[in-house]
Amino acid sequence: MLDGKRILLIISGGIAAYKALELIRRLRERGASVPVVLTAGGSNFVTSLSVAALAGETVHGDLFDLTRESEMGHIQLSRDADLIVIAPATADILARMNCGLAHDLATTVLLATDKPVLAAPAMNVRMWQHVATRRNVADLRRDGVSFVGPNDGDMACGEFGPGRMAEPDEIVTAIENHFQATHELPLAGARMLLTAGPTHEPIDPVRYIANRSSGKQGYAIAAAAARAGADVTLVSGPVTLDPPAGVNLVNVQTADEMLEACNRALPADVAIFSAAVADWKTAAQSDNKIKKDGGGPPGLALTENPDILRTISCLEHGRPGLVVGFAAETENVLENATAKRLRKGCDWIVANDVSPHQGVMGGDSNTVHLISDGGVESWPTMTKTDVADRLVARLADALRGVANAAR
Ligand code: CTP
Repeated sequence: MLDGKRILLIISGGIAAYKALELIRRLRERGASVPVVLTAGGSNFVTSLSVAALAGETVHGDLFDLTRESEMGHIQLSRDADLIVIAPATADILARMNCGLAHDLATTVLLATDKPVLAAPAMNVRMWQHVATRRNVADLRRDGVSFVGPNDGDMACGEFGPGRMAEPDEIVTAIENHFQATHELPLAGARMLLTAGPTHEPIDPVRYIANRSSGKQGYAIAAAAARAGADVTLVSGPVTLDPPAGVNLVNVQTADEMLEACNRALPADVAIFSAAVADWKTAAQSDNKIKKDGGGPPGLALTENPDILRTISCLEHGRPGLVVGFAAETENVLENATAKRLRKGCDWIVANDVSPHQGVMGGDSNTVHLISDGGVESWPTMTKTDVADRLVARLADALRGVANAAR
């Protein structure tokens, strides 16, 4: 189950740190590699030497060493991991993580990661029951962090109650369950590229060309795909939405930046283009704010933006296996969208009617038609979250079909 998995273990400063040594041993027995970040607090309880001896790798402790040694070392550490485990997770590291603080290597890794995180809390019973810790744990759970323990029992401080770190065997079981569940998810192992939101095309330093896209449908798809186990890169134009949990978010402003970010995110098994990319950008951006100089409105010379969907659909090498476009239309929805699918070279197109009386732009529900080689499927009006879940289920079926055909 854990063969070949890379589990980044963060040992923070609690008396239960000694159990982390046993945890490393058990994980390695099961075939996992276990790079370790030992916090300054953690090193008061276990030594780098004993951790390194058991882990069979150098132990990371200092943010600045690592950054010097290989640029962006903290990003690399989190990128290489399949799972991050914090054991023991003190009240302090949970609080710092919840606030997004990053003043040491452990919290920097936690802030920089898009990988799943499992925490094994260990602390005094009163600290565990304190409203601040309860709030932090609730927030972290909402952000997608999983927890194992703590257990009830006698504590090193002489008190009794919840706060003892889960035993190494229980943590191993939680880790195995995580991989088992992930393995069975419908999009497990699939790489997905997704664009969402509008683009902003600058006119001058204060003005830009934009559109009414809220990004809600794209963000809902990103969240649904991540829940279904996909490795999602969401390339997003400017929106006011919270980043979906477990998604690699790349923020861009313009269509040119969006295309560049998409190219960087390839290869992908599935690419979905839900962004409302501005068709036009200004031929030249003014360096200074354009003034009213009495000469009437300025003539804005426009030039066409790259068509991201078409560019990726027509790639000769490295085209994603399944490319899905969106078609927001205000008239002749099915006709226009069907023609658009062929023109853009994508496999599927999700069409919807965005004429003002429909009120979909920025709203929470959507009425879409899924157009493919097989014809048109019209879905009833539903929430954008339900559209996303249904689309993800269709993607999973399609990918399973490809996998079966390849067998
Ligand atoms: N799209 C894109 N890059 C562009 C324009 C559109 O990737 N420069 C993608 C959108 O993300 C969407 C699909 O193409 O998936 C259709 O977008 P839409 O704006 O409906 O199509 P246009 O090509 O702009 O056609 P028109 O505005 O003429 O309807």
